[in-house]
Amino acid sequence: MSDLRRNRTLRVLNVEDSEQDAALIARHLTRAGYDLTLNRVETAETMRAALKNGGWDVILCDYSMPQFNALRALAVAKELKLDIPFIIISGTIGESAAVEAMRAGAHDYLMKDALTRLGPAIERELHELENRRARRRAEGAQRASELRYRCLFESAKDGILILDGNTGQIVDANPYLMKALGYSYEELAGKELWEIGVFKDIAAARESFEELRDKSYVRYDDLPLETRGGAVIEVEFVSNAYLVGDARVIQCNIRDITERKLGKRAMEETNHKLETTLSELSATTQQLWQALKLATMGELAASVAHELNNPLATVAMRVENLLMTMTEDDQQRHSLEVISHEVDRMADLVDNLLQFSRRGHRQISTVDTREEIANSIEFVHYHLRSRKIEVVREFADPLPTIQADCQQLRQLFLNLLTNAIDAMPEGGTVTVRAKTGILHDNEAVQIDFADTGQGIPAENLKKIWDSFFTTKTAGKGTGLGLAICRRIVEEHDGTIEIESEMERGTTVQILFPATAHAAANLQ
Ligand SMILES: Nc1ncnc2c1ncn2[C@@H]1O[C@H](COP(=O)(O)OP(=O)(O)OP(=O)(O)O)[C@@H](O)[C@H]1O
Ligand SMILES: [Mg+2]
Repeated sequence: MSDLRRNRTLRVLNVEDSEQDAALIARHLTRAGYDLTLNRVETAETMRAALKNGGWDVILCDYSMPQFNALRALAVAKELKLDIPFIIISGTIGESAAVEAMRAGAHDYLMKDALTRLGPAIERELHELENRRARRRAEGAQRASELRYRCLFESAKDGILILDGNTGQIVDANPYLMKALGYSYEELAGKELWEIGVFKDIAAARESFEELRDKSYVRYDDLPLETRGGAVIEVEFVSNAYLVGDARVIQCNIRDITERKLGKRAMEETNHKLETTLSELSATTQQLWQALKLATMGELAASVAHELNNPLATVAMRVENLLMTMTEDDQQRHSLEVISHEVDRMADLVDNLLQFSRRGHRQISTVDTREEIANSIEFVHYHLRSRKIEVVREFADPLPTIQADCQQLRQLFLNLLTNAIDAMPEGGTVTVRAKTGILHDNEAVQIDFADTGQGIPAENLKKIWDSFFTTKTAGKGTGLGLAICRRIVEEHDGTIEIESEMERGTTVQILFPATAHAAANLQ
């Protein structure tokens, strides 16, 4: 119920030439219970002025007046675009005039002798007015909402396609989609989805459309679409089916993810590169660490060897002097000879340490490796025999010579023979081969030490080259043997590899460039 009716205030603009008639109307309305304000006007100008002041609930208008009439009054109300109930009150109006007035916009008409109807007529018109205003508000809201959605549709940065849910015909496509695919609205509208080349992949068969239609939600995460220009873009395709009134509508949202995918790919590549760099870095760090260990070890060995050299020389000289002053049958002579022997051994050891620290002087000469191998085997002859280890020599003849430092070669072979002996506590065979081989496409000498010992577990194979890696009991092994071997071989431009099988044995293979192919500094 409107406020007007609750308060029963009523502001009437009465277009009327007769003051008496106006008073009559006022009386009726007051009697009907209105708290009434009534203004009477009788010309177009006064009416217009009054309407412009505003505040009227209803216009009650005489049909014909000497200088004015209802149709002209209607025209004034219309001209001011006012929607106020306009009721004609007349003593004379006929049927056809009444129809004409209603067509011109009057809301109702009454005879002056039936003013009892005036109250209900006003009530009804005010009610109608209220309805009209409510409708207008609703329509305005609807239009605003449609406009908002249209704006979203038009300005969306995703492709939107609207399909008729029953036929698959394209009802609408937003500008973004048309631009992305290269089709105009006319080329798309009214076509069935599968007629458009672009959608071949999703709609090559009607079943695909049926899937779109039957499932209320379909999603393709990664769909290649070919644009009209032949470019392939990768899209995310999401479709929703819903009802608008009775009509079934499918809305497809199509998002271009080409950039996103390119970004992802670039990221994956960068990651991959990073991983590679990291693993290279880790390998380099490992090598550096290794080099550092050896370098530190070398420094240490050098300084210890250096410090030992002088006192050893003094001891050797003194012992030599003492021996010279002694008679052959002196009782102390044997002890002194043992000391002299041990001092010689210590001098050798110091020599080895100097070799290891690179401070020793290398003496490169042309070497027949077979001879050096034989010397080395001779050196450990006692150990081999006591361990019941058989030595098999397979020496090729002829065999090229190599450029090498004999001391170092012997150290190399001794280390390998010692390792083989240690690996065969219950005895076995060590086969030593020397033959012509190939190194970097050139003639080389290949030397193998193959034992039938316990073998090296796979997890240790990488570590055996590390300085100080040993599986031997304290005092038995220092873990330096193979590190030294590798350095010696590499200093001779050779290669050294180890293959091993648990319980079957270990083979160490060495390749040295033959003299003809040795680097100039080795010749
Ligand atoms: N022929 C072999 N058979 C089985 N294991 C071996 C053999 N050669 C080396 N190894 C293994 O490799 C480890 C390292 O050898 P490396 O010669 O460097 O040091 P070591 O023999 O332990 O000590 P060092 O030689 O300094 O006295 C050994 O402790 C052993 O476990
Ligand atoms: Mg060793």
